[in-house]
Amino acid sequence: MDVILIAAVTANGMIARHRHEVVDWSLDLALFKKQTMGFPVILGSNTFDTLAVDLKGREIIVVHRNDDPAEVINRLKAERCFIIGGSHTYGRFAPFLTQIYITFHPLVFADGIPLFTGLQNELYLQFIAKIPVIKSAGIYQFQFKIIKP
Ligand SMILES: NC(=O)c1ccc[n+]([C@@H]2O[C@H](COP(=O)([O-])OP(=O)(O)OC[C@H]3O[C@@H](n4cnc5c(N)ncnc54)[C@H](OP(=O)(O)O)[C@@H]3O)[C@@H](O)[C@H]2O)c1
Repeated sequence: MDVILIAAVTANGMIARHRHEVVDWSLDLALFKKQTMGFPVILGSNTFDTLAVDLKGREIIVVHRNDDPAEVINRLKAERCFIIGGSHTYGRFAPFLTQIYITFHPLVFADGIPLFTGLQNELYLQFIAKIPVIKSAGIYQFQFKIIKP
């Protein structure tokens, strides 16, 4: 099964200004909806509490610290699922990722929440594709495959 991290990030690799921020600066929500529709989405409890997007049409799996990421994924029957954040959840599910979809936004936060919290090992990425979000603003989603080192 494909396990795909999807995130909006700033130019300095942040996904939010703070843990309770409602991310209203993301410009790729239409693409997010199109790509995730019909597939399970896995998110952490903070992200669930700060959710700015409508997740109708998708199985929503909210994970807590006691959940085992491997078990959560193994229970799913779908051909793909999406890890939609936040930072702790990206970190905990990192060993199981097969792809990463990142949309870089023209922002730099002074303080913020990094893409990954608690990442245990480095990840190695191979470029797959670049999907236009807002071409005139230079906003693209970059898709990478996770490769084994
Ligand atoms: N830009 C983007 O694309 C994007 C996407 C998603 C989210 N976000 C932002 O990311 C932020 C939330 O990120 P987050 O990392 O705080 O939350 P999160 O990953 O959504 O939720 C926290 C998760 O980590 C667990 N946890 C908390 N403390 C832990 C610990 N000490 N050890 C192990 N697990 C622990 C929580 O379990 P419990 O439930 O048991 O506490 C929960 O499962 C929000 O601001 C949100 O808006 C941005």
